[in-house]
Amino acid sequence: MKNIDKENKTEIIHEHIHWYPGHIAKAERKLKEQVNLVDVVIEVLDARIPLSSCYENIKSLLGDKPRLIILNKSDLVDTNELKNWIEILEKKFGYPVLVSDAKSSKDLNKIISKAVELAEPKIQALIKKGLLRRPARVMVVGMPNVGKSSIINKLTKSSKTKTGAKAGVTRQQQWVKVNPKLDLLDTPGIIPMKQEDQIKAKKLAFVNSVSENAYENESVAIELLKILEKKYEKKIKEYYSLEDEKITLENIATKRNWIKKGAEPDIERTAIFILKDFREGKMGKFILDERE
Ligand code: G4P
Repeated sequence: MKNIDKENKTEIIHEHIHWYPGHIAKAERKLKEQVNLVDVVIEVLDARIPLSSCYENIKSLLGDKPRLIILNKSDLVDTNELKNWIEILEKKFGYPVLVSDAKSSKDLNKIISKAVELAEPKIQALIKKGLLRRPARVMVVGMPNVGKSSIINKLTKSSKTKTGAKAGVTRQQQWVKVNPKLDLLDTPGIIPMKQEDQIKAKKLAFVNSVSENAYENESVAIELLKILEKKYEKKIKEYYSLEDEKITLENIATKRNWIKKGAEPDIERTAIFILKDFREGKMGKFILDERE
């Protein structure tokens, strides 16, 4: 089975997701150019897969640039479980970690003040060199669909003041003044969706970070059920009204009456619905990564 998704430059061969090296190299080059323009990078991760939505090459892309890690979509995970993850990630990466739910505005002030704080050493260094104080320059990066645009929209919604192009910035890249202390690049840096580890790649597919043309719903839904069963068996059985039955696509199809002509379970339809239920948080609140 070979299925190529031209737009996202990914392909699936025998149920494995692969990437075109040329596409990755181009995306990384573009991201590095953007990163050079800013003092602080806000890296957005999906709180449901805090490790799998990290990019393994992030260090080579961002260097030692101060980083603020945001666990977005926090409304889709359990708050107590998330608290442990904040500690784990702060220890692992050595950068501050905040949570956000881009559907509400409650986390914005914390994000803004932390970004300004992280930029301060750079601003102070400029002042020491005799330059005037200027606002912190910040950008948002992350894998597809983690909520970068939603966060940028929230941060800039109160201020639509475009500050215009700065030296070295292409016309398409605009800065928005979030407040007098913070300018935000209004286009997100897209981290190329690349994950050699197939389990992690499938986790990215669960949360819609991979174009749906690049995988088969059935194999991805089976993997999702396997992972959910390990950690959250009771919740899944309850949601799909399974009692003694095992958590399988066939059993869920039968329970939900997703049956094709001839009384066969409709596996494709079931797989699509399971992925949809998970993505919309209908089955419950889950974190799918394990501590390393
Ligand atoms: P991206 O720029 O990183 O690609 O992500 P984007 O902001 O476009 O968000 C991708 C999807 O995730 C959007 O849903 C968006 O509404 C949703 N989203 C972003 N942040 C959060 C969050 O904190 N919680 C939840 N539950 N969802 C979030 P969509 O279905 O593509 O669009 P829409 O119908 O919601 O507009």
